Amino acid sequence: MLKLAVLVSGGGTNLQALIDAIDKGAVTNAEISVVISNNPNAYALERAKDHGIEALCISPKQFGAREEFNRAFLETLNSYQVDLVVLAGFLVVLPESMIKEYENRIINIHPSLIPSFCGTGYYGLKVHEKALERGVKITGATVHFVDEGTDTGPIILQKAVEVRQGDTPEMLQRRVMEQAEWVILPEAVNLIANGKVSVSEGKVFIQEQPAAKEL
Ligand code: GRF
Repeated sequence: MLKLAVLVSGGGTNLQALIDAIDKGAVTNAEISVVISNNPNAYALERAKDHGIEALCISPKQFGAREEFNRAFLETLNSYQVDLVVLAGFLVVLPESMIKEYENRIINIHPSLIPSFCGTGYYGLKVHEKALERGVKITGATVHFVDEGTDTGPIILQKAVEVRQGDTPEMLQRRVMEQAEWVILPEAVNLIANGKVSVSEGKVFIQEQPAAKEL
């Protein structure tokens, strides 16, 4: 059973997609042990509590120095002894010590087709504003392992979404969430939970599902 910690900062729709996918059996061999947010008002925390999942808030604002937050955050996470950390809209820069300790055990959902529209400053609505500004016809979402960079780790899954004439950033964000994020994040967790994902030289290899036997 893969034990998960899900880190959130906002509405928690990706967390909800993961909770629902586990509930309906679309994700197997995985359970959410804890949801942690830096934002005490994150609705994601309510979603977790509504589902009987332990939910807590640890914010840099609670600490004098950033190093103190980093230490407390990592100690708290380690106390749950999870196998995989899922960043679902988590807006805090992770401590380097955590990224080293959890190498290839932290995944992130980003609302674009990396390497487009990603990196420092590209998060939330800004990503979609830039996609519309550039006039791309296709965008989408990416699930990737987290490394020391920003949105630079090995890519696990991507899903494309069309950009439509007249899209506002909000309309595009919603479509990317519904058609891509909420699909590939649970799918990535399921693949990892069932031992189908490996990383070699910075590239992700996914063990193909056996083709259905010809009847
Ligand atoms: C999503 O758009 C995700 O791609 C980005 O942050 C947003 C989180 O939304 N990383 P939610 O909190 O999961 O609703």
